[in-house]
Amino acid sequence: MSDQHEKTSEKSSNVVWHDSRVTPAMREQLNGHCGAVLWFTGLSGAGKSTLANAVEDRLHAMKVHTFVIDGDNVRHGLCADLTFSDDDRVENIRRVGEVAGLFVQAGILTLTAFISPFRADREKVRNIVGERFIEVHCNTALEICESRDVKGLYKKARAGEIADFTGISSPYEPPENPEICVDTGSNDLSACVDQVIDYLIRYQFINR
Ligand SMILES: Nc1ncnc2c1ncn2[C@@H]1O[C@H](COP(=O)(O)OP(=O)(O)O)[C@@H](O)[C@H]1O
Ligand SMILES: [Mg+2]
Repeated sequence: MSDQHEKTSEKSSNVVWHDSRVTPAMREQLNGHCGAVLWFTGLSGAGKSTLANAVEDRLHAMKVHTFVIDGDNVRHGLCADLTFSDDDRVENIRRVGEVAGLFVQAGILTLTAFISPFRADREKVRNIVGERFIEVHCNTALEICESRDVKGLYKKARAGEIADFTGISSPYEPPENPEICVDTGSNDLSACVDQVIDYLIRYQFINR
């Protein structure tokens, strides 16, 4: 991860990168699988959290070291100071991207579940994480998400009770070339899990 040396701190000088003797490659070797990020993106209710957790269940059973970072959860802590304005959504994804990058260096198969509506922000995370970034588009149409209305948020958004709601009053920019596009609108959950696991095996992130 030598490119980390090139990073500069925006607000503090005299910050010098300290290399660790145990490298990401050594951690991966110990684990017997790659560190990577499965970045689930899609509308609210598309199935990001459901699929990420189902994939984690499967990976855990395969003895893969995993961690799910969920949008709703980090809003209680790491990102509790952020709103859903455009600027704060950008900062939300920047923070999570940096954290996900650290998890990858730790050798963890990391699964993130964030709407992450802006293409440019997802590309920034791709730049942080590099070739271990796997974009997974949970491709459920707005009408289906709205009919599921898992958390009752679409109803509130339509009633004007929630500002900046993705798909209603704030844009969603779908991935143009995701590594994986999952039809979380019509396929059943286990078929979607299979699709993600098959990808990880095919590209040798994990062993069968
Ligand atoms: N193939 C599928 N993948 C994921 N979720 C699905 C699928 N089919 C139906 N669902 C349902 O869609 C809903 C998705 O909700 P959730 O995972 O909370 O969405 P998100 O995290 O994207 O906001 C759940 O009620 C889930 O049971
Ligand atoms: Mg969710």
